[in-house]
Amino acid sequence: MNNISNFNDALDAAINKEINAVNFYKKAMNIVNYPGAKDMIADFIREEKRHVQLLKAAKESKDMISVGQKSLPPDLEITKFLVDVAITENSTPQEVMIAAMKNEESAIALYAQKVKAFKGTELEPVFHELMQMEKEHKDHLENEYERNFMPDN
Ligand SMILES: [Fe+2]
Repeated sequence: MNNISNFNDALDAAINKEINAVNFYKKAMNIVNYPGAKDMIADFIREEKRHVQLLKAAKESKDMISVGQKSLPPDLEITKFLVDVAITENSTPQEVMIAAMKNEESAIALYAQKVKAFKGTELEPVFHELMQMEKEHKDHLENEYERNFMPDN
């Protein structure tokens, strides 16, 4: 998605990113294998699926009907947070964890931009909540990374 000019496009881009997150964690599930990892990743998959639903519901909301075609503020940075770090079945558990942390970080940044864009509308709290949830993922990943991949911990 190269051309993100209005609020509908921005929402579609976020939905896409969440679908990518679901697929990312489904792949990660087969690779990251320290004790407890699969439970964490299963939770993440459930939550990212719920984010897709939240965003789809937001897209249908009456607020979007009124602002959907409106141009985004020009100072918003959306596109640079849409590209996720990819993993393959040959990625190591450590590479997967690092990619996951980076992707959650860009999701947080993306939603921070959306909170700004939708300020004062009914959708502002939706994006704020999404941002918080991605932040929880990132914090959780960072703790697990330190516990399982950093020596002398
Ligand atoms: Fe998400």
